[in-house]
Amino acid sequence: MSTHTQLIESLRQIVGASNVLTDGDLTPWVQDWRKRETGKALAVVRPGSTPEVAAVVKACAAARVSIVPQGGNTGMVVGSTPDASGTQVVLSLTRMNKVRTLDAGNLTITVDAGCVLQNLQEACEKAGFLFPLSLASEGSCTIGGNLGTNAGGTQVVRYGNTRDLCLGLEVVNAQGEIWDGLSGLRKDNTGYDLRHLFIGSEGTLGVITGATMKLYPMPKSQLTAFAAVPSLEAAVELLGLAHQHLGSGLTGFEVMGQFALSLVAKHFPQQRVPFWQEHAWCVVLENSDNESEAHARECFERLLEAAMEAGCVVDAVVAESMAQAHALWHIRESIPMAQAEEGLNIKHDISINVSRIPEFVTETNALLLERFPGARMVVYGHLGDGNLHYNVQAPENEDQARFLNEQETPMNALVYEAVDRYRGSISAEHGVGSLKVNTLPKHKSPVALDMMRAIKQGLDPQNLMNPGRVLKA
Ligand code: FAD
Ligand code: MLT
Ligand code: ZN
Repeated sequence: MSTHTQLIESLRQIVGASNVLTDGDLTPWVQDWRKRETGKALAVVRPGSTPEVAAVVKACAAARVSIVPQGGNTGMVVGSTPDASGTQVVLSLTRMNKVRTLDAGNLTITVDAGCVLQNLQEACEKAGFLFPLSLASEGSCTIGGNLGTNAGGTQVVRYGNTRDLCLGLEVVNAQGEIWDGLSGLRKDNTGYDLRHLFIGSEGTLGVITGATMKLYPMPKSQLTAFAAVPSLEAAVELLGLAHQHLGSGLTGFEVMGQFALSLVAKHFPQQRVPFWQEHAWCVVLENSDNESEAHARECFERLLEAAMEAGCVVDAVVAESMAQAHALWHIRESIPMAQAEEGLNIKHDISINVSRIPEFVTETNALLLERFPGARMVVYGHLGDGNLHYNVQAPENEDQARFLNEQETPMNALVYEAVDRYRGSISAEHGVGSLKVNTLPKHKSPVALDMMRAIKQGLDPQNLMNPGRVLKA
């Protein structure tokens, strides 16, 4: 028997034959969400418990077979699917989907890593709490994947990234040992904080199997407004006013450029998109209030009045009901799908100090259009966090695959050089995966990369955990 056949036999014994997939259509596990790459797996293994994960990792390590941890496979940077060699095991966490405990007094919830984000949000809501992480992929992404990528989303302006919401982790390390770090402590200075090494490591250091996350009180009222602003400068001014008027009530602040909104109107005509035809930019804002809906409305009205007086808002609607609020958020959240409908595209998930974003966009738009005439910029994102999705769609009527093939590398270089000039980041929230692995060394300091390599070497000396992601193999 070959080593691979022996390994598959051992994996069947660990997780049960029906949870080791080797034949049939494995597309959902081997193709990334954006359909950028389709790999080939030696097997897709679906353990049902942490000891099973540990046994799988030990068996793979003994056979020197590398592992690609996978949650909902909604990642944007080709990090959760196997390469084309057919020699990697995809370790899918989706069977591990239970809420373990909710500690109301400690404001924490402990869950399996394969728990789908929306199920986690709903479990918290049922108990009267808010779990604030919110992404358009929440119906399929998992908390393990959110931690693996340190996902951001639409509530970061108030609650922070996934890292900020996590108090403890359970991890199976690259040797197949279980580290129980499931602490609900808010203070613990007993040396290096290992949790933070695994968060954002994109499966390259170990497999997250469980997590203890923070809960928040459910706000009394959540109000949403959709405002047209005359420029990106005005959007930044509005953000400043929103901080002043709403304080910690400001829980969402998203910007959307006209072309991004036009794609939603074009591909999802059932959605009513306000203002986009007349105005260059729109903003979605959310105010969460712990007093009452009347108070929330009053604060919002005062903010919008001040903003109109200052000339940074030209028109606005405030949702009258939860259904209207959902519809307004849905417009923003539909942009990635509308972009996918429009065709292949180039994504730049960048962050820059908020105050410098308008200047960056004006300057980079001009450089891009000079070099790539007809390129269509799809600009939107989490302005409250200084995180833009500065994406590009091929010129109309141009062969999209050819455009991507020929122009992605020079276009990325132009955009990322601009990001460097502004001391920004070339990956704000999506991670590095394999899509940006060759680009990262050009934009990160050699000292930082050396320290990252030392951590990888120390924790995974055989390079078996998601090799070739984040750092070059
Ligand atoms: P996967 O895609 O399966 O994996 C992502 C990475 O994490 C891979 O490197 C994988 O190896 C690793 N990983 C997965 N599970 C584990 C684990 N248990 N232990 C260790 N490593 C693991 N992202 C944002 O940040 N903000 C957004 O607003 C946002 N919006 C999105 C909207 C849409 C429509 C879509 C499709 C995606 C969006 N994303 C967004 C990207 C994506 O949903 C997030 O990166 C999410 O956190 C990935 O979770 P997942 O469970 O799908 O992980
Ligand atoms: C978003 O904010 O909608 C996402 O991060 C997804 C994307 O960039 O496509
Ligand atoms: Zn985003």
